[in-house]
Amino acid sequence: MIDIKNNSGSKLWQQAKKIIPGGNQLLSKRAEMFLPDFWPAYYKKAKGCEIWDLDDNHYIDMSIMGIGTCPLGYANDEINIAVGEAIANGSMTSLNCYEEVELAEKLIELHPWAGAARFARTGGESCSIAVRIARSHSGKDKVAFCGYHGWHDWYIATNLGDDKNLDEQLLPGLAPSGVPRKLSGSVIPFKEGDIESFEAIVESEKDNLGVVVMEVFRHAMPDLAFIKRIRELCTAHNIVLVFDEISSGFRLNIGGSHLLWDLEPDICVLGKALGNGHPIGAVIGKSDIMQAAQESFISSSYWTERVGFTAALKVIEVMHEQNVINTISEHGKYLKEGLIKAAEKAKLPLNMLGIDPVLILGFGGDALTVKTVFTQEMLKRGFLASNVIYVSLAHTKDVADNYLKHAEEVFCQISQAISTNELSSLLEGEVCHSGFQRLN
Ligand SMILES: Cc1ncc(COP(=O)(O)O)c(C=O)c1O
Repeated sequence: MIDIKNNSGSKLWQQAKKIIPGGNQLLSKRAEMFLPDFWPAYYKKAKGCEIWDLDDNHYIDMSIMGIGTCPLGYANDEINIAVGEAIANGSMTSLNCYEEVELAEKLIELHPWAGAARFARTGGESCSIAVRIARSHSGKDKVAFCGYHGWHDWYIATNLGDDKNLDEQLLPGLAPSGVPRKLSGSVIPFKEGDIESFEAIVESEKDNLGVVVMEVFRHAMPDLAFIKRIRELCTAHNIVLVFDEISSGFRLNIGGSHLLWDLEPDICVLGKALGNGHPIGAVIGKSDIMQAAQESFISSSYWTERVGFTAALKVIEVMHEQNVINTISEHGKYLKEGLIKAAEKAKLPLNMLGIDPVLILGFGGDALTVKTVFTQEMLKRGFLASNVIYVSLAHTKDVADNYLKHAEEVFCQISQAISTNELSSLLEGEVCHSGFQRLN
């Protein structure tokens, strides 16, 4: 058993919060999102789905796997070799790297409806680029959106009008402080599946609405009729339709998931899994629409850096050659079925959500406390465990069996505590956070 109360990482996290507001650069990796007092927070080394913390404790990552960036596993050998060569040959020079053109060609080949690509490094900035291009092309400022699209002003501005606008999208409680108040009303939310609310927005805003940004799916398979109707309305009213496939892309297929259902956006944004841990964001779109990038100024030094392009090309190659998409779905299905059985045996209410390569454990009752206790007890047993599992190539049957055995034991412990009304007494620290909250 790992001694979770004496961990250098959890101590360093407290230190970090004094000099780095919030502690780090990504809400989803804050210790408070898992186990506020005892999360190891930092790593020295990672390989496959294994991680070693600052005290050399060894864990199996059965959680966010670098927040969905690494379906091939951490430090994948093939990606490392390709990236290593790119670094050895110079990853930044006064000339451009040719891999940039190769990646544009590859993405256009994968998405036959697209004719042009721009690149960035992160998902949020790629969405901002897409919105800039879409506004530039349509000549209309307002944006309607559904889902999560990053931290930038264009998106967070929705909470200026009503600070609960984002609560039902993905992350509740996002604060719009620092976003110009003049942007209030510029970006309007609609709910997944709620076509009436979308139609009402189009009806009242059609003269100003130039852009729709949506995820194709988040927690379940997409509602195709809903998306098709949105496509129709966007076409009818000269609205640029942007699919944000930063999380949904490269999970069910190689490329944007919309390809699976014959859906066609005007622009598609890709990121995360595309680089398997190396920063790359892609904005692909129809040629005439993408040309609107030339009417605006969209430019950044490190968007030309070589590693992201090299990694993405290799990821696509490895995904094709090693049948990665089928394998991660199979691994996920095995885990899902095992978790359902384990919960049944333990008599613990559990609703498995998500898609096979991205599982979500829907705990019942006091879900946040159950999740925290689960994380705490699994951590002692050497697992980084949460209510989300981004499945990777490294989550083999052996890894899954080991996790499932421990998960069942912890489920039994939790179920027993619930039956005697003693769940809180299992908690050794604070309950985890569920959305954006101020720290320190
Ligand atoms: C659908 C979607 N869009 C945008 C983003 C923002 O990407 P990043 O965190 O790389 O800025 C995310 C990140 O989770 C996402 O899932």
